[in-house]
Amino acid sequence: MLSNPFWDFYWETRLQYLQGQGKGEVILQASRLIRQSSHPMRILEAGCGEAQIIGSLVDAHGSPSGEQTSIGIDRDLNALAVARKNFPSIRFLAGDFTDKALLESQGQFDLLLLVNALHHVFSDAYDPSLGEINVPIGKANVHTSFADLAQTIKPGGYLILFDGLEAAGALDSPIQIRFQNPDAWMKFQTFAREYKPFRIQYQQDVAGKITLSSRDFTSYVTKIIFLGKPLWERERQESYQYFHEDEMRRMLVENDFIIQEYRLLSVDYDHWLQDVDILTPGVEFPPEHVIITAQKKG
Ligand SMILES: C[S@@+](CC[C@H](N)C(=O)[O-])C[C@H]1O[C@@H](n2cnc3c(N)ncnc32)[C@H](O)[C@@H]1O
Repeated sequence: MLSNPFWDFYWETRLQYLQGQGKGEVILQASRLIRQSSHPMRILEAGCGEAQIIGSLVDAHGSPSGEQTSIGIDRDLNALAVARKNFPSIRFLAGDFTDKALLESQGQFDLLLLVNALHHVFSDAYDPSLGEINVPIGKANVHTSFADLAQTIKPGGYLILFDGLEAAGALDSPIQIRFQNPDAWMKFQTFAREYKPFRIQYQQDVAGKITLSSRDFTSYVTKIIFLGKPLWERERQESYQYFHEDEMRRMLVENDFIIQEYRLLSVDYDHWLQDVDILTPGVEFPPEHVIITAQKKG
């Protein structure tokens, strides 16, 4: 039943501030699936953090109870303490969602949420001897982890995946940019010094104008909003980008999913425009994130 006055009220009073943000889009999309379903959905959120997403969905739409209750998994005990306090009806597991045995012990789910979670698996492949993420290992780890997570979904069940996406085209193609003001240029230099997953390299052409690779440009625009905020310490350790669109689609198809919706989101576009002018003809700001809704073959 798509029309649901309680949901409309819940969204308007509790969540509307998330409208247009990734989390908000995921919650709206998941709520649509739940309202279309003939029975309460059992949800798994891998990397649930403080459970704003799974918590809101279970709060608003309910969940099967007892053994069949919805589950959030996270390795951050502080985040889980908040989640448990705010959403006592959900079972939260402190653990690693890449642990196949842990996943297998929880049974199967109607809906799996992977929201800003898989890029952690990629980023965990940081190799101190390289001084960067070991890309082949990181990608292989994402594939393995995703295949294990996919097994937790019932035939005919759903996946909503939200995460960063590598820009189209070659990662090393050069992009020339001009900073719109001295503050933006200063912030870029701090970003380039402190960002850990990849060494950011750039050539300064004239004052306030630089050339850098497509990969480094995407890293910059997707991370710069965190610089100077408490989240920067954590965000500077992680790369949101691990797959191009074709790799993302292939992973889903290989794991028996039918993609129902594939939508690019660029929630920080206005902010980027204030800081940077792209000088290379034909180059646009990269899509920041992707939200994918897919159904597991029945
Ligand atoms: C960016 S937060 C997203 C939280 C939540 N999905 C949301 O969007 O509000 C990612 C979360 O994944 C958790 N995480 C990352 N890798 C994990 C792993 N291998 N096992 C369990 N949790 C993990 C982190 O601790 C963090 O809380």
